[in-house]
Amino acid sequence: MKTQLETIKQKALAALAEAKESAELESLRVKYLGKKGELTAVLKQMGKLSAEERPVIGQLANDVRELLTAEIEAQKAKLEEIKLEARLRDEAVDVTIPGREKKLGHQHPMYIALEEIKEIFVGMGFTILDGPEVELAYYNFDRLNAEEGHPSRDWSDTFYFDEDSRVMLRSQTSPMQVHAMETKPLPIRILAPGRVYRKDEVDATHSPMFHQVEGMVIDKNITMADLKGTLTAVMEQLYGEGTKTRFRPHHFPFTEPSCEMDVQCHKCGGVGCPTCKGEGWIEILGAGMIHPKVLEMSGIDSEEYSGWAFGMGLERMAMRRFKISDLRLIFENDVRFLEQF
Ligand code: DAH
Repeated sequence: MKTQLETIKQKALAALAEAKESAELESLRVKYLGKKGELTAVLKQMGKLSAEERPVIGQLANDVRELLTAEIEAQKAKLEEIKLEARLRDEAVDVTIPGREKKLGHQHPMYIALEEIKEIFVGMGFTILDGPEVELAYYNFDRLNAEEGHPSRDWSDTFYFDEDSRVMLRSQTSPMQVHAMETKPLPIRILAPGRVYRKDEVDATHSPMFHQVEGMVIDKNITMADLKGTLTAVMEQLYGEGTKTRFRPHHFPFTEPSCEMDVQCHKCGGVGCPTCKGEGWIEILGAGMIHPKVLEMSGIDSEEYSGWAFGMGLERMAMRRFKISDLRLIFENDVRFLEQF
């Protein structure tokens, strides 16, 4: 039995030394020290031994059990340590590695220009208004005094959705005037920027989609002097103090009188240069006193209230602001272009 115990001890130690997983250690424990284990099997034969031999073998068997139990624990600890070290190695973070640069974009030049314009008007008490790009011809034309047969309603100019020319992509931001009159209490001061659509071929100054900024004021005792004074003050803030404006008569169905406003060329100071095409002046926007019919159609008493309105092309403002020569650059979104702003 002594040799049997010795063999079990050697075999078990060898197997333990080989073990690579704690589950393996557990099955070795069962195999040698468990109830049906090899050591237990030997102990069960103790009865056959003589009275002198029994304590000796008993002691020996206990020693083997203790040794193996201790060895299993030690091996378990060792495996766990190896595992921990491997994990620490795998999950190590090298804080000295330079971070990956995250590219942050920035505002598009046209929106930089729009923000400047918005800020000026908000400072004057205007509210920013947003509205639908898919619009009823009723708002885009009828309610703005452009009745059936008006040339701007032509199919060759406008994107209609239906045969009856009822639903369309708005061709101007002016329908926002009507939406404002329908939803806002008087007096009204609104600025409504947004996309508009027209059947234009793409070239250096045209695009079937572009942006306008609409503005409108309605109150008691509003005159053309308010229109001229306000718009001139805005241009001075945009282009610098002393900037000169000029108003030329024009025609729009929803204003009477109507005008176009030019700003004296900031490049040549009015002498004439390539930027202003030799004119000395640059056309900026259309404006006018809101037609009494337009006010009345929206339920506003034109005897008591009057107002002025304007619409300007945002791309043009941005092109002038950043000296961009071709409209297409604004929409192509070539990062080499955009990164310059
Ligand atoms: N909607 C006009 C256009 O697209 C611009 C315009 C002119 C707007 C006069 C106005 C205005 O509000 O009063 O050409």
